[in-house]
Amino acid sequence: AAAVGVAGGAALTGCARADTDADAAAKAAEALPSPTAIGEAQIPFHGERQAGIATPPQAHCVFRAFDLAGAPDNRRDYAATPRLGGDDTKRFAAALKGVLRVWTDDGARLVRGESGLADMDPELAENPARLTLTVGFGPRLFDLIGRPELRPRWLRQLPAFEIDDLDDRFNGGDLLLHIAADDPLTVANASRLLSAGVRGLVVSRWTQQGFRKASGAHPKDMTQRNLFGQLDGTVQPDTGGDLVFCGADEDQEWMRGGSGLVLRRIVMNMATWEEVDPPQRDLSLGRRQSTGAPLTGEHEFDPVDLDAKDKAGLEVIPPQSHVARAHARTPEELFLRRPFNFTSDAGGGDPESGLLFAAYCANVDRQFLPVQERLAEADLLNTWTTPTGSAVFALPPGLGESQAEAGGFLGDGLFT
Ligand code: HEM
Repeated sequence: AAAVGVAGGAALTGCARADTDADAAAKAAEALPSPTAIGEAQIPFHGERQAGIATPPQAHCVFRAFDLAGAPDNRRDYAATPRLGGDDTKRFAAALKGVLRVWTDDGARLVRGESGLADMDPELAENPARLTLTVGFGPRLFDLIGRPELRPRWLRQLPAFEIDDLDDRFNGGDLLLHIAADDPLTVANASRLLSAGVRGLVVSRWTQQGFRKASGAHPKDMTQRNLFGQLDGTVQPDTGGDLVFCGADEDQEWMRGGSGLVLRRIVMNMATWEEVDPPQRDLSLGRRQSTGAPLTGEHEFDPVDLDAKDKAGLEVIPPQSHVARAHARTPEELFLRRPFNFTSDAGGGDPESGLLFAAYCANVDRQFLPVQERLAEADLLNTWTTPTGSAVFALPPGLGESQAEAGGFLGDGLFT
């Protein structure tokens, strides 16, 4: 009887466990956000401004740079301007037009969850998951197509900074394609399709993947954390005015509604950061890692007070902290920051971690450069960070629906 009792007991316990597991699984499934809500969400392709700039950032992205096929390889000297004849510039202009038409047509379909023309894998396009693609022009492109007079004055590679350890693999580029979505499969598929569609017209120069907090994993409006654990992206300008998108006073009429992008690949040294205790970390940033509050406040969005002193008469936010150095000193020194984290194989087995630091502004010289210069000169965060890639692009304005119907394409302002 005892043996039966034991066996029966075990059987009963087993049943009860199965029920509990099933209940727990059902509860967990209920707690998940509706998968279709994330997968089916769409961001319109057409509009006055390109999507993917002021759009609330998606969880996954890839930045891809291309050179026009047949242009000299300028990786070693990215400022080099090739000497070109009229036939060359005509050929490059025709190639560029071809690329922009493909990206416009395929992009408009992909963001609706429809596949590109002649695509063999339409199933992969079914989940747009807030897909955006954003196109940009590198400094040399204007020489290649024979229209140097259309280059915005600020569009050039950033000057060399002492903190830099730039790697040719992540610098420059004639064309940028920034693809972002909340589903990494969507990003990978769009990246494959959009590059396959322009094969022969461009050569791939570099590809950099990044990620942010997953959709649905955190409260919607929470600032994302970078890999140092800091809330990153708190202080941002208004995207409605002329700070992020070019207004009428910029030098190039065709750029009105467009934006400038500075993309810096910054490696973060996790091993040495792990040796730093919390108070030192907070002092080097000027904010608390836990809450994101400035050292002169209690909450994340409290104002940064660089003049506040402690009892000993010392600045509460150290003058060499990241926030003190980066804080705008004029109303113009503001830009939109949309950083993406990365971890990638550095070749030695251990991943390399860092930030794809993306800054958007109407005028790089006026808004971004003074801040970057101050950070390069002295910023406590430099102890643990090293810029290894750098590129600047002019992002043309968006394409309105009526312009598209009339045969327009992204960046067609270069051809008028
Ligand atoms: C603020 C991290 C690189 C410009 C911040 C904040 C963090 C942070 C945690 C505070 C919260 C916020 O306002 O977002 C980092 C890390 C970097 C990096 C880890 C490199 C790996 C840069 C670069 C620039 C920059 C390259 C520009 C050249 C700014 C600006 C602010 C800021 C303008 C706002 C300052 C203010 O007005 O309070 N950064 N940052 N950061 N950062 Fe960075």
